[in-house]
Amino acid sequence: MALDLEFVRSQFPALAGEWVFMDNAGGSQVLRTVAERVSDYLLTSNVQTGASYAPSLASTARVREARGAYARFMNAADASEIVMGASSTALFRYLSEAMTGRLQPGDEIILTNADHEANIGPWLKHAERGVVVRFWNVDPDSFELELDGLKDLLTDRTKLVCVTHASNILGTINPIAEISAIAHAAGAEVVVDGVAYAPHRAIDVKALGCDYYIFSSYKVFGPHFAVMWAPNDKLLALDNIYHFFMTRESVPYKIEPGNINYEAAWGAIGAVDYVEALGRKAGAGEGRVAIEAGFAVIAEQERIITARLMEFLASRNSVRIVGRKSSAVADRVATVSFTVEGQDSKAVVEAVDAAKIGIRHGHFYAYRLIDDLGLMANGGVVRVSMVHYNTLAEVDRLVAALEPKL
Ligand SMILES: Cc1ncc(COP(=O)(O)O)c(C=O)c1O
Repeated sequence: MALDLEFVRSQFPALAGEWVFMDNAGGSQVLRTVAERVSDYLLTSNVQTGASYAPSLASTARVREARGAYARFMNAADASEIVMGASSTALFRYLSEAMTGRLQPGDEIILTNADHEANIGPWLKHAERGVVVRFWNVDPDSFELELDGLKDLLTDRTKLVCVTHASNILGTINPIAEISAIAHAAGAEVVVDGVAYAPHRAIDVKALGCDYYIFSSYKVFGPHFAVMWAPNDKLLALDNIYHFFMTRESVPYKIEPGNINYEAAWGAIGAVDYVEALGRKAGAGEGRVAIEAGFAVIAEQERIITARLMEFLASRNSVRIVGRKSSAVADRVATVSFTVEGQDSKAVVEAVDAAKIGIRHGHFYAYRLIDDLGLMANGGVVRVSMVHYNTLAEVDRLVAALEPKL
């Protein structure tokens, strides 16, 4: 069943304008319903949660409902497994700080050079205390994180493997279930950055088998806000990083220092409802099955537009795609990066700006990857990051704008 693009685009007011948005991995457009919910929270239920008076009970219920919606979105067992924060970067910092008690000098952490710095920097802090950090690096020719490379790095002191589900540069979908099985067999836990994956495919934490999963709602059609999932026993085992009078049992509050953004939590439910609506339109029932069906039609639309773009790029001798050549649903998301021989990436992007198409160049905070691939001096990569609301006509407009430069 194909995506109803007219319905889809009508849900995002910004898409009615003259610009084409293809910098979605930086931040997606927001749903009208999300904006309306944020406004509604602020105008009708903006009191502090946790008291016994009726408006506070209503506000508390709204925030709880947001945890439930995101539990469904990630296929978590329960709303109590959802932690909220201002950004994924903040949540990685909190998670890392909350593991201080358990990470001892001599313990080991494996990081990748394909990750956004959000899932690197917070872990490197522990190196200052004698924790050993090892890097699992992308093969510079194939752009793959080879599983054998991970196996070589694991030891009986490895406590964590921190890895991105999809690369925000390469677009590659990493096999988290396999990575989790390998890490668990060695006694290590797995921390997954889902930011570049979440707008594109259904997250299923049960199937992934990882231990912690974080993503940002502003890349998934919602407000500036982020979510972390971990099973209850894992959350209970974390240190309290909030006030001293919280206890280890104060889940999730002990790892949500300060009040979370209530209006963003309530607003973000709109994005979950939207994917469910797409699933229902595709013939699915309610809840989780609708989310999976919604993402199935999203993935197919992404495949179609990605294939068109990659076909064009592959036809130009001057272009090197930085990532897999495949546009198959299982291989990559609709984030496509490339370089152009003899041209600075900045110049390529500026030519496209003039055509009122938003794309971008640089390292995208995956600084180590771009540096290791030797692309820093080139202005990084040109990145076209699409989502399901982008159309073939928009890809053709981009191709027309790029053609004279390539
Ligand atoms: C893969 C990836 N991880 C983490 C982040 C950081 O997310 P946030 O801005 O919510 O901290 C980004 C943001 O671009 C990202 O692309």
